[in-house]
Amino acid sequence: MVQALNRKYILYFVLGTAIALFLILAFIHPGHPSLQFQDKFPSLFKETAKAPWLIATMSAAWSQQRRNIIRATWQHTYRSSGHFDTVFVIAKAKDHDLWEPLIRQENATWGDLVLLDHIEEDRDIANTIKPIEFYKHLVHKHEAEGGEPWKFVSKVDDDSYLDATTFYNEFLLPRVDCNDTIIARYLSWAAMTGDKVDYPCPGGQFYTMSWDIVETLARLHTENPIQGLMEDGMLGKLLYEGKHPWELVRLNDSRAFDINEDTFHGQGMPPEKPDLGPVEAMTMAVNPHKMKKDESYLKVAALFDEHGFKNKISSG
Ligand SMILES: *[C@@H]1O[C@H](CO)[C@@H](O)[C@H](O)[C@H]1NC(C)=O
Ligand SMILES: *[C@@H]1O[C@H](CO)[C@@H](O)[C@H](O)[C@H]1NC(C)=O
Ligand SMILES: *[C@@H]1O[C@H](CO)[C@@H](O)[C@H](O)[C@H]1NC(C)=O
Repeated sequence: MVQALNRKYILYFVLGTAIALFLILAFIHPGHPSLQFQDKFPSLFKETAKAPWLIATMSAAWSQQRRNIIRATWQHTYRSSGHFDTVFVIAKAKDHDLWEPLIRQENATWGDLVLLDHIEEDRDIANTIKPIEFYKHLVHKHEAEGGEPWKFVSKVDDDSYLDATTFYNEFLLPRVDCNDTIIARYLSWAAMTGDKVDYPCPGGQFYTMSWDIVETLARLHTENPIQGLMEDGMLGKLLYEGKHPWELVRLNDSRAFDINEDTFHGQGMPPEKPDLGPVEAMTMAVNPHKMKKDESYLKVAALFDEHGFKNKISSG
């Protein structure tokens, strides 16, 4: 009897020690990026273990299949990092009553739909004010609910793939302390419009803002509700005319680019030269864009795994 009890206590002791050791090792593991982030931003993690980064994909209300493809590809591949939360931003379909039950059911499964029910879903709205209406929604929600905001907010199109881990490690981790920053492809206002004045605009396929820029844009568009201007240009214009200084960190063409869907077959990535553009470009890819067909999206996604682009040029 006594011996049995002793054995039980020894077992508890061994188990307890093992768990304690595991926890200690997990916390002192030096290379864990999310722990580095937590160290720098302890307040971000105080209440809930919220991710520091929100990635919002703009999506038409009726595009359920594309949303499922995105959930099953990069969102799934990179989510276990814990670096980001995701939402899909939809507007109100013209036949809202027809779509509403499907959207409700979809959201019951995933809980990742944000409906902007004050704007109607169409191509013009998607290309112009939909994203900024979402930022206003985010800021209102934050003001109403309090708590810590995300440190970064990204907007991405639903025909863009995203290697979220490479992007996080290379572009966000080094900038955890930065405000007034947008990481994006560079577009020139003058080149887009033929205007004499020039200022930078973030390319709309994928850009990432520090939280203060989200607040600034929401405020500037409330003061100056520009309509009908392409999103990229509008964001640049709001910041320029609002005299708000900001830094554009460029995602150059080797990181974010358009694919040519007509010639891309998703095979023969290095060593064979792909039809995607230069091989060097694809090997550094973080954000291939313009996959209109679902099959093209899947073929591009198949070129990536949890470490990023599979056939890095140095290894092939
Ligand atoms: C989707 O579900 C989430 C989580 O329950 C909720 O916060 C959000 O408001 C829902 N969206 C819609 C459009 O109902
Ligand atoms: C960035 O903005 C936040 C929130 O306004 C502020 O607490 C922080 O000090 C700012 N960081 C820098 C480097 O200015
Ligand atoms: C693009 O940016 C990467 C770093 O993100 C850099 O290594 C590369 O040299 C740049 N390429 C060009 C053409 O500027």
